[in-house]
Amino acid sequence: MSYLELSGLQKRYRDTVAVDDVSLSVEKGEAVALLGPSGCGKTTTLRMLAGLVDPDRGAIRLDGAEVTRLPAHKRNMGYVFQSYALFPHLSVARNVGFGLEERGVARAEIARRVAEALAMVRLSGLDQRRPRELSGGQQQRVALARSLVIRPSVLLLDESLSNLDAKLRDTMRHEIRSIQRSLGITTLFVTHDQVEALTMCDRIAVMHRGGIAQIGSPEDIYERPATRFVAEFVGRANALPATRDAEGRVVLWGERLPVAAPASGEFDLFVRPQRIRILPISEPVAESMMRVTGKVLRSVFVGDHVEVLVEGADSQIQVELQSGTALPQEGAEVALVWHARDTLPFPRETA
Ligand SMILES: Nc1ncnc2c1ncn2[C@@H]1O[C@H](COP(=O)(O)OP(=O)(O)OP(=O)(O)O)[C@@H](O)[C@H]1O
Ligand SMILES: [Mg+2]
Repeated sequence: MSYLELSGLQKRYRDTVAVDDVSLSVEKGEAVALLGPSGCGKTTTLRMLAGLVDPDRGAIRLDGAEVTRLPAHKRNMGYVFQSYALFPHLSVARNVGFGLEERGVARAEIARRVAEALAMVRLSGLDQRRPRELSGGQQQRVALARSLVIRPSVLLLDESLSNLDAKLRDTMRHEIRSIQRSLGITTLFVTHDQVEALTMCDRIAVMHRGGIAQIGSPEDIYERPATRFVAEFVGRANALPATRDAEGRVVLWGERLPVAAPASGEFDLFVRPQRIRILPISEPVAESMMRVTGKVLRSVFVGDHVEVLVEGADSQIQVELQSGTALPQEGAEVALVWHARDTLPFPRETA
C-alpha cells in the first residue's frame, strides 16, 4: 500500500458532480500534480484530502490508517491556499507560528521552528513585518513556511503560484521543488498550468470533468497522452482531420502516409508543432517519414523560437522551429516532415 491512498472519491453538489470516482496512490516523498482546466474538481479533491470537505463516497488512507472522516486538524496536512489566507494583523512570525500555537507547542520551541521555516523560504529578517508590507512572492513564502512549520505528513498546494508574475513563478517553482525534495515531503500540487505540473512533480494526474484522465510521469503525459483531452490540454498540438484509404492507411492533405489509420470512425492526427521540420519540396526523405506539402501562410519570429503556419489541402499546420533557423518565406511551397512516432490518432470529437 502507498503512503497516501485515495480510492473512489466522489463529491456532489446538488446537480454538479464535482469529483467522480477519483483514485490515486502517492508514495512517501513523492510530488504529484493535479492538472486540469477550471472546474474539473482539483480544489474539491484537495479539500477532501485536507478534511475541509466530506466526500460522499470513497476513502482516504494515510500511512496505513483511514482518515476519511477525521477532522482537518487531526490529519496533519499542510494546506497552502491560492489566496495565501495570511492574517493581516499578525506579524510574519506569528503567521508562521500560528499552527504551532494552536497545537500548544512551547514558546521557545515555536520561536526556533519559525526561524527555521523562515530560513527555509529565505525570509529571515522579515519576521516582524505585516503581510501588507510584503511583495506577492514574499507572502507566498510566508504561506509556505506556515504549512511547513507544522511538519505536515502531506503538503497540499492549491494554485499557490498563480498570483505571481512569470519570472517569480519560475523561481518559486524551483525553490518549492527543492524544499519538497530536501525534506522528502509528500506533496499534492494543484494547478491548471502545465509548465508548473511538468517541472514541479514526479507524476501528473490530469483531471477532466471530475475524473482522472491519465496518471503518469511528465514525459508519459506529454509523449504518450492517453486521450484526446490530455493531448490537447498538455502542450500544444495540431489536430489534423485525416481520412483512410482502401488499405487502411492514413491520408492527410491528399497524401498517403506510412502509418495505419484507426480501424473505424472519424479521426484526427495529433502532431506537436516542434516535432515538424520544414524542408524544400525537392529534398528527398525516407519512405518511413510522414510528409505533406503546403504553402507558408505566416512566419513569425517569437524570440526563442519561430512560428510558422502552413496551409494544405484542407487544414493548417503550426510548426515551431528553433530560432536561428532562417524564416521560411511567406507564400513558399514547402514540405512538412515528421516521424511516425510523433503522430497520434484520436477519434474526432462530435460535440
Ligand atoms: N461549495 C460548492 N457548492 C456547489 N458547487 C461547487 C462547490 N465547490 C465546487 N463546486 C463545483 O464543483 C466543480 C469543481 O470545482 P473545483 O473548485 O473543485 O474546481 P477546480 O478544478 O479547482 O477549478 P479552478 O481551476 O477554477 O479552481 C465546479 O463545477 C464547481 O462549480
Ligand atoms: Mg480550484
